Amino acid sequence: MTDYREEIIDISEFQESDYNVLAREFNSHFPKTDAFMTLDKTTLHIMLNQLDIIKYREFLDALNIDPVLTDAAFDVVNRIGSYGLRGSKRHYAGYNAERKVSNRKAKEQDRGKHYYANDNEFSKTNNSLPAEYENRIICADSLGVLKKLPDNCIDIIFTSPPYNFGLEYDTHNDTASWNAYYEMLFGIFKECIRVLKYGGRFVVNVQPLYSDYIPAHHIISNFFIENKMIWKGEILWEKNNYNCKMCSYGSWKSPASPYLKYTWEFVEVYCKGDLKKAGKTADADITAEEFKSWVVAKWSIAPERHMKEFGHPAMFPENLVERVLKLFSFKNDVVLDPFNGAGTTTLVAKKTGRRYLGIDISQEYCDTAEKRIEDSYDPQPSIFDLE
Ligand SMILES: C[S@@+](CC[C@H](N)C(=O)[O-])C[C@H]1O[C@@H](n2cnc3c(N)ncnc32)[C@H](O)[C@@H]1O
Repeated sequence: MTDYREEIIDISEFQESDYNVLAREFNSHFPKTDAFMTLDKTTLHIMLNQLDIIKYREFLDALNIDPVLTDAAFDVVNRIGSYGLRGSKRHYAGYNAERKVSNRKAKEQDRGKHYYANDNEFSKTNNSLPAEYENRIICADSLGVLKKLPDNCIDIIFTSPPYNFGLEYDTHNDTASWNAYYEMLFGIFKECIRVLKYGGRFVVNVQPLYSDYIPAHHIISNFFIENKMIWKGEILWEKNNYNCKMCSYGSWKSPASPYLKYTWEFVEVYCKGDLKKAGKTADADITAEEFKSWVVAKWSIAPERHMKEFGHPAMFPENLVERVLKLFSFKNDVVLDPFNGAGTTTLVAKKTGRRYLGIDISQEYCDTAEKRIEDSYDPQPSIFDLE
């Protein structure tokens, strides 16, 4: 006999015709052994054995009924945090009996989720970004610009700070003492947290300085945790750049001091106040295929190949920014990059229908960032124009 888990929705506020369509279409679309819906006067019952959540979302989006009802029907299933996987289907029934950890929810409650961030004092009131900062590239020290912004006015920050590796930037000196470096970085990051909306995301690409044994990704994570940000996760950006081989492996063929080698960087994702970000379903622009692929937190993306052309030594590839923005923000959100360099974050924000603010200390990089945005308006001439 098939086992089901039951979820319910109060339908008293919805049109009868809408919930009738929802239940009828659901029952003819999905096999009864997977899931089915029933109705009584005030309640929609969703009986779940197993379900492909992406197909369920697509099914709901195709219905021509009140989107508040379809969103509620989706959320009640999607928020079930404990399920197994059978192929692309989540399986809900009898799953807890198979789990090694019994009374999982109660134990979670005893331990306390993200305990380090729960006593934060962040205001929940979000503000608008003042118009003079919207869709702007500003050449200045980020600290000064950020100090002029109101609290809680940015939806998402994506950045890669200078790493203090000794790279040849236009104006920035990339070899400070580590104390001076972190004082500069955390001064700017503190302002970033202040201007981030409640529920906003702070996404930082970090590469540790392996040769100096500086675990920058852990140091930066400690900073976020001390500042009451919730760790949402970590993406491993696999660059497959085997060119980064060191010519010596430490103590060759000896455990005395072998040198480890890496072909990846880290992308740390932190949230302010809440893991859930406010936004309209209609403004989510990630496709089902992208979502399925990108929630697997190892991203294989080649490094940017045009750095020479743009005259910047450490640029993001556009694809990395596209994934971060589509996975963690909605269209029309405000995107900030306080170390904007040649402007990859602001360019992709523009291309994906988001608003942006990019700040960099180098006029040359800011000019490049502006030009890349301008050029993105120009459609490539077609072969007919060239004739
Ligand atoms: C790793 S790069 C960012 C590159 C960028 N992600 C891109 O795709 O082009 C770091 C940038 O931080 C800038 N920078 C360093 N100190 C700064 C500061 N105090 N304020 C603003 N920008 C700064 C540097 O000029 C450099 O362009």
